[in-house]
Amino acid sequence: MTKPFIVAIDGPSGAGKSTLGRRLARELGLLYIDTGAMYRAVALAAAAAGVKDSDAEGLTCVAHRARVRLEGDPDSLRVFLDGRDVSEEIRGEAAGRGASVVSAVPGVRRELVRRQRELGEAGAGCVLDGRDIGTVVFPSADVKFFLTAAPEARARRRLEEERERDAARDFEETLADINDRDLRDATRADSPLAIADDAVVIDTTELSVEEVFDTMLRTVRDRQPGGSRRGEAEA
Ligand code: DC
Repeated sequence: MTKPFIVAIDGPSGAGKSTLGRRLARELGLLYIDTGAMYRAVALAAAAAGVKDSDAEGLTCVAHRARVRLEGDPDSLRVFLDGRDVSEEIRGEAAGRGASVVSAVPGVRRELVRRQRELGEAGAGCVLDGRDIGTVVFPSADVKFFLTAAPEARARRRLEEERERDAARDFEETLADINDRDLRDATRADSPLAIADDAVVIDTTELSVEEVFDTMLRTVRDRQPGGSRRGEAEA
């Protein structure tokens, strides 16, 4: 069996990982794995089970029990938690904040990293977006990107998405949330957000999606022997 072709995309919230990851996966015919969605789904499961943020053992248990399924093409990816479609629910503010909390728990990370590796190794290749893909999940990924952007630019992009669900959201609130989340993701003891030594770093602040996409595609094409996989994955 040939080794799967792995593209890692890491970076802070709102840097464009998901938009570009989906697009890249579609263009290359690879599976797209949104690892943040997995942490968000575990956060929902923990809230539903009434497990407290401070209960690391309880959160680890929830992560082990939760059945998280990513299904569909990159553009129409649906996320299921224990058979229930939670695609919309995981995008809410509470799930985002919860994900940032549960993702700091080493036992939760160990379990989700194990599943991410299993999913990534199962097919011809995939694009994974997250915080630790190039550093921890697939340190020998074929291509690693680190996307970043100024906090204000990331907050503006996040606000656009959030306003679709909550018209009352304002910029300051979103910016404060981004800064909070950055701090938590970058300072946690286990697998903090970090740039892999061999990552291609792209600052997307002043670039259009098209420009970033072209750079990423060119980089991948240079290293890709060829790949074709769409479909579904259960973790
Ligand atoms: O990318 P996102 O906003 O959906 O991620 C939600 C949270 O999960 C975010 O606070 C960081 C965390 N996360 C992580 O620690 N490791 C990953 N591979 C993906 C997400």
